[in-house]
Amino acid sequence: MRLVLLGPPGAGKGTQARMLESKLDAPQVASGDLLRTAVKNRTALGVEAQRYMDKGALVPDELVLKLIEERLNQPDARVGFILDGFPRNVPQAETLARVLDGYGKKLDKVVALMVPDAEIVKRISGRRTCRNCGAMYHLIYDPPRNPGVCNECRGELYQREDDAEETVRMRLKVYAESTRPLLEHYGRLGLLAEIDGIGATGEIERRILRVLGRDGAAAKGGS
Ligand code: AP5
Repeated sequence: MRLVLLGPPGAGKGTQARMLESKLDAPQVASGDLLRTAVKNRTALGVEAQRYMDKGALVPDELVLKLIEERLNQPDARVGFILDGFPRNVPQAETLARVLDGYGKKLDKVVALMVPDAEIVKRISGRRTCRNCGAMYHLIYDPPRNPGVCNECRGELYQREDDAEETVRMRLKVYAESTRPLLEHYGRLGLLAEIDGIGATGEIERRILRVLGRDGAAAKGGS
């Protein structure tokens, strides 16, 4: 399965991608996570990318494409992937299509999670992420058992720097200007399914599996 998850910041792309990995037998490939790792490791690319991420702007295409191409070339992602946060604009979508074409492959589906801005602000302000394993929580919707501590690995939970209110406003503006046009782009290609992103995470997962024709996978996992 070669799937793209689209949606505004905080729509639940990362949450769903992680949940779907085992059911679709495909790894999550998250451009934001790849960039944050490069920033943490202080690579030249990471240092350059951070200047844009801190402002909530898009990182220049050539930097992101380098990371994504490297990741898609790894054996697990050659078989399939769940892209989360990429592509982010029409030129990135066109490059992705060219890269896949080079392997004789195509995208199977693009699923857009539709979530209104007011809900996004609530989701982002309550998000906490594990510094160690990347597990995600929400202070109200999905709190950790012990405040500030990851249920999975006992790592420290932190709030992303780009989740500050002003930066979130900028990220929403960038989404409206650069990323939303992808809905039309993929709609024209007949690949798009828009789904309601409001509801319990298990219910949203079932909606995604339904549009992928994988309802059986939902029943098997029982989520
Ligand atoms: P990135 O990391 O991709 O961030 P984003 O797209 O803004 O998305 P988020 O990670 O904020 O949200 P999400 O949709 O994954 O939601 P989540 O599941 O976490 O990008 C960060 C930056 O990197 C960009 O601003 C840009 O600078 C750069 N970048 C990345 N990719 C790029 C690219 N391709 N080109 C150029 N630049 C790029 O959920 C959010 C919260 O809600 C969590 O707390 C979660 O627990 C909760 N939640 C999830 N689902 C539900 C639900 N159903 N009900 C209630 N709460 C829920």
